Amino acid sequence: MWIHNLCRQLRPKKTVEIGLAYGFSTIYILAALHENGMGSHTAIDPHQPAYHEIGLRHPEKLNMADAFSLIRQMSVPALVDLHRKDEHFEFIFIDGNHRFDDVLVDFILSSEVCAIGGHIILDDMWVPAVQKTVSFVRLNRKDFVEAQSPIANVAALRKIAEDTRSWDPQSICIWTIWPSVELRTLQRPGGCLGRLRDYSCFRPAAAAVKAQDELATLGPRRQPT
Ligand SMILES: C[S@@+](CC[C@H](N)C(=O)[O-])C[C@H]1O[C@@H](n2cnc3c(N)ncnc32)[C@H](O)[C@@H]1O
Repeated sequence: MWIHNLCRQLRPKKTVEIGLAYGFSTIYILAALHENGMGSHTAIDPHQPAYHEIGLRHPEKLNMADAFSLIRQMSVPALVDLHRKDEHFEFIFIDGNHRFDDVLVDFILSSEVCAIGGHIILDDMWVPAVQKTVSFVRLNRKDFVEAQSPIANVAALRKIAEDTRSWDPQSICIWTIWPSVELRTLQRPGGCLGRLRDYSCFRPAAAAVKAQDELATLGPRRQPT
């Protein structure tokens, strides 16, 4: 399995997986850690009882129980806790809830606990929600580059830097409204930004002042007749 090969190649110190289920991925990850002679694996999943706790048996059978832990929580509180503890992982496998908002939030929180040089793997690229999340990362997260994956159903993203995007609503607006358009095109004379020039109108406060000024030029409001 490809995640086994990747774990062999990357030799991660710490790995985490969102969604344990019957623990098939865990077997391959633990086998790689065993062969590497180092590393520990954490699974996050609150629903092991629904799988008759089978996912937990593999680490014991592989004599890897010491290198394995399960966090019986939903991914959001679990990842937030790991972030608070300043934990970092070199290999993160996202395979939990496959709704768009959950996959996106799993990625965002995983990116906080991903070591620089570490990989986030998203399983099930056939699911539109996963494709959308990967598309968002490609367009917006320049702190990640896509790594080659021999399997079309999996996306591999390598963290190469910290996320240094501006929080400023002005720049956020530009990237949110025209995420796929080159800024240079917009800034050309006659281009959108060229024509707008004063794009302080993106700022809600500035827009409100402008609206007030425009209202003032109209004179007092008349009662409808
Ligand atoms: C597709 S299965 C995981 C399969 C497993 N990774 C494998 O390859 O064998 C999805 C798992 O995600 C778990 N899950 C669903 N929502 C979750 C969430 N918000 N946080 C953590 N786990 C979740 C489910 O309980 C289920 O066990």
